[in-house]
Amino acid sequence: MSQSLRQRFQGKVALVTGGADGIGAGIVEQLAEEGAYVFIGDINEAKSRTLCQRWDSVEYLALDVTDESQWQSAFAIIEARKEKLDILIQSAGISRPGSIEDTNLSDWRDHMRVHGEGAFLGCQYAVASMKHTGGGSIVNISSVESIRPGPLFTCYGAAKAAQDALTKTVALDCGEKGYNIRCNSLHPAATYTPLLQQYLQSADDPEGLEKIYAGMQPLNRIATVSEVANACLFLASDEASFMTGHQMYVDGGVLAKPYPSGQGA
Ligand SMILES: NC(=O)c1ccc[n+]([C@@H]2O[C@H](COP(=O)([O-])OP(=O)(O)OC[C@H]3O[C@@H](n4cnc5c(N)ncnc54)[C@H](O)[C@@H]3O)[C@@H](O)[C@H]2O)c1
Repeated sequence: MSQSLRQRFQGKVALVTGGADGIGAGIVEQLAEEGAYVFIGDINEAKSRTLCQRWDSVEYLALDVTDESQWQSAFAIIEARKEKLDILIQSAGISRPGSIEDTNLSDWRDHMRVHGEGAFLGCQYAVASMKHTGGGSIVNISSVESIRPGPLFTCYGAAKAAQDALTKTVALDCGEKGYNIRCNSLHPAATYTPLLQQYLQSADDPEGLEKIYAGMQPLNRIATVSEVANACLFLASDEASFMTGHQMYVDGGVLAKPYPSGQGA
């Protein structure tokens, strides 16, 4: 990668929800390495603060994405400290697999709140701020499950699909209004993070399930966090300046092949 690419985010201010761990933490690291000032918005203060210790340009904001008052406070702090937000990455997420018979209303509501309402509030506050400061870029971290949901992802696939529709409406609305705000979604397949590890460990045969997941991808492995972060940074950057309302797959090719019966994507 050239020196200029490594400094793509000099002078940019970013907020990464779910930035304490997993994919979000990888995105925080790469944004900071490439010159951005990064706010981590997460409910996990301890892990966020550990990341903050590594860069002067990474700061923690207490943010539960389902709580509108916390979005209000977060944007008040960002605008007071930096006067603008250029990039919002929405990576906060939960996943509790279960078929329609094993899932309860509380699980459904939790998924809809984090992935649906959380992303809605994030887009709403980001647009309200970015439209006054010259525009910006929003990337919603979705999943291959929103395109091709497996039978065990009842709540997760539906919640991510709601988020995808939101991404497109925000992209269209901001485009039509000339706000210079792009909004895209990124769709990873299985990626090595605490979320995935927790899921694998809950199986009777974690190693066997991991092999099944790896084998689903034509590239025959699970993605690394940095592979997903690379794609996210491209979408967030000015290099993607003519891309909005786009669904980018980081899926090892899984969505290019026929769906294997009985398994999630
Ligand atoms: N890991 C995968 O295989 C995979 C695949 C496709 C999509 N995704 C998506 O990528 C995103 C990140 O997943 P991950 O695997 O890194 O998960 P993770 O569990 O490793 O990290 C998720 C982060 O979100 C935070 N979080 C959870 N609820 C929150 C809330 N209400 N408010 C603020 N922060 C909250 C957690 O504290 C954590 O830091 C999620 O949206 C997930 O659905 C993950």
